[in-house]
Amino acid sequence: MKTRILLLAGGQSGEHEVSINSAKSVLEALPKDQFEITTRVISKQGRWLGAGESLQALSSGAAESGGELMLAGASSAGEFDVVFPLLHGPMGEDGTVQGLLTLGGIPFVGSGVLGSAAAMDKIMAKQVFAAAGLPQVPYAAALRSEWRAAPDAVRARAEGLGYPLFVKPANLGSSVGISKVRHPGELDAALNLAFSYDRRVILEAMTQGKPRELEVGILGNDAPRASVVGELSFDAEFYDYDTKYTEGRAQMHIPARVPAEIAEQVREYALTAYRALDCAGLARVDFFYLEDSGTVFINELNTMPGFTTTSMYPKLWEASGLSYSELVARLVELALEAR
Ligand SMILES: Nc1ncnc2c1ncn2[C@@H]1O[C@H](COP(=O)(O)OP(=O)(O)O)[C@@H](O)[C@H]1O
Ligand SMILES: [Mg+2]
Repeated sequence: MKTRILLLAGGQSGEHEVSINSAKSVLEALPKDQFEITTRVISKQGRWLGAGESLQALSSGAAESGGELMLAGASSAGEFDVVFPLLHGPMGEDGTVQGLLTLGGIPFVGSGVLGSAAAMDKIMAKQVFAAAGLPQVPYAAALRSEWRAAPDAVRARAEGLGYPLFVKPANLGSSVGISKVRHPGELDAALNLAFSYDRRVILEAMTQGKPRELEVGILGNDAPRASVVGELSFDAEFYDYDTKYTEGRAQMHIPARVPAEIAEQVREYALTAYRALDCAGLARVDFFYLEDSGTVFINELNTMPGFTTTSMYPKLWEASGLSYSELVARLVELALEAR
């Protein structure tokens, strides 16, 4: 009997289109003799499109409208053996959809509620990383209500970190709402921007100089494995939205051009982070590497990384000996095993 898979794509975050592209790749790659796949696209408004509308959205690349209310749409999920929530960012990668599927008793690919929520929140993730002894840049947190009531207290936290620093919404991804703040004169605008997206904001000291960016793929449940290390290089001040999503702006190097000890260190840190956040299935863990001092800092862990055939995560596994279709089939197996 074929395993019936429900592939969820699109969603309400800024990575709606990225998710649909990833879903197209997964659809093509899943061996049709083993799996029967149904795709449901979730619109930008959070509505669940039917089968026909979903196919249309897959070919047009986005769903701006249509669909039924989430709870009605989700009721069909019970007809499947496994759900693959190929959704990025808030309302998809942050434990919300994972909670719905857990309540429904349906196995799904990737981390559960706890791992998804904790990894998505930059402040929570940093607290967990600190407890696990992972090296990271100094940071401070602030609430929107504090920024309104006592802006000087928030400005003082920035002074404490020093400049340049980064200001980021705690829960967003894809670099939306993130600013690099070069001097105090730029701070208020950066905080106003970040707080327009989120109640909670993180301020982060910048690494000493522009870092190199290393990424590792993790695969597995209780006994996770780390892929080879990859590197992203780009010609921009930081890895912002445009650089991320404009074809040709960033280059992938697999394996990363770093000493073997550094690569080993990064893989070990990635596994520690994965376990500390209680992740399952898959994750891509991102690091900053400062070549001059030979130091490595963990940046973040993504529980549902970009998944097109040319995305970093599948490429890392390909270089580690697992083809794209083998990787997808393995993720389905891991979802069933977790159950
Ligand atoms: N503390 C930092 N020091 C140096 N560069 C940073 C720092 N924080 C973020 N960046 C740059 O900004 C990019 C986006 O930040 P990140 O926290 O990864 O946001 P997102 O979750 O949206 O991907 C990073 O890939 C890096 O280029
Ligand atoms: Mg990032």
